[in-house]
Amino acid sequence: PYAAIGIEVNADHLTAVAIDLAGTELLSWRRSFPGATATPGQAVAAVAALARRVLGRMEKEGRRVLGIAVAVPGLVDLTGSVRTAPNLGWRDVDLAGDLTRALRHPGFPVLVDNDANLAVLAEHRFGPHGGAGNVVFLTGGVGVGAGVIMDGRLRRGGRGFAGEIGHIPVDPGGAECRCGRRGCLEAVAGVRAVLRDTAPDATPAELEPELDEVVRLARAGDPATIATLTAVGGALGRGVAVLANLLNPDVVILGGHYVRLAPWVLPAARDELARGSLASEAGGTVLVESTLGYGAAALGAAARLMDAIDSGHLPAQ
Ligand code: BGC
Ligand code: NA
Ligand code: ZN
Repeated sequence: PYAAIGIEVNADHLTAVAIDLAGTELLSWRRSFPGATATPGQAVAAVAALARRVLGRMEKEGRRVLGIAVAVPGLVDLTGSVRTAPNLGWRDVDLAGDLTRALRHPGFPVLVDNDANLAVLAEHRFGPHGGAGNVVFLTGGVGVGAGVIMDGRLRRGGRGFAGEIGHIPVDPGGAECRCGRRGCLEAVAGVRAVLRDTAPDATPAELEPELDEVVRLARAGDPATIATLTAVGGALGRGVAVLANLLNPDVVILGGHYVRLAPWVLPAARDELARGSLASEAGGTVLVESTLGYGAAALGAAARLMDAIDSGHLPAQ
């Protein structure tokens, strides 16, 4: 029996998923990881160590591992090279090559792609909206990114950088973004914006416990917390309205940390979507939360690797 491994490396966590040929999950693992502060070398070493562990576990179970695919929160070009990943502080990292060298396994298939692109593939294949041909997935992490499937196909654009909605400037005087600009959508609607008043200096490991606290306060009806979440939802909804006007997706799916925050973020986002999009007024776009949870990008990575092997399109390392 075979297995494919998908790993997501992000600003605050590492995730791993292994699936068999039918797409059934064999393993799912997630841990806090300081991607935002680690050097590229440390991050590559952590991904390699995790890959080795999952590989070992699969082999112990008698499975042949077909390869590893890695989801990264950044701009990945069509050759699989990471050009820039603002929330990891990466520039021009040849992750596939580095990983192959770290694993000392020349010829072993390693694939790298953008986290949102891989997550939308997982939603399209495994999620409840699989029947829809036009799906956008929005990551809800430190960064906000979009994976875009139109007419049944993932859309990458000229160099592979389509979907960078998180760096659309929405507030000229707004908060600083890790990309070096100001007022980017992810700076006003990402997890950092959620924590701006209560935990502005949260380390990557503190993000999740701080979000637990936000959820607790929101459930208790704390007005300041609810106001913050409503503002974040509103900003997000204005971004989704742009998507709706531009692409007319059947469904836009909010993933990552947004799932936990959905009871407060989603209503505000839906209001702004309705206000800001002619298409949704005409019955165009539905906005929902993901049911795949934090593993969506890693799951999509493993599935895409299987597809690439199937179709013979895997770049040799
Ligand atoms: C990056 C995107 C990524 C998103 C979510 C953004 O900061 O530029 O490439 O998809 O974060 O991780
Ligand atoms: Na993308
Ligand atoms: Zn930015």
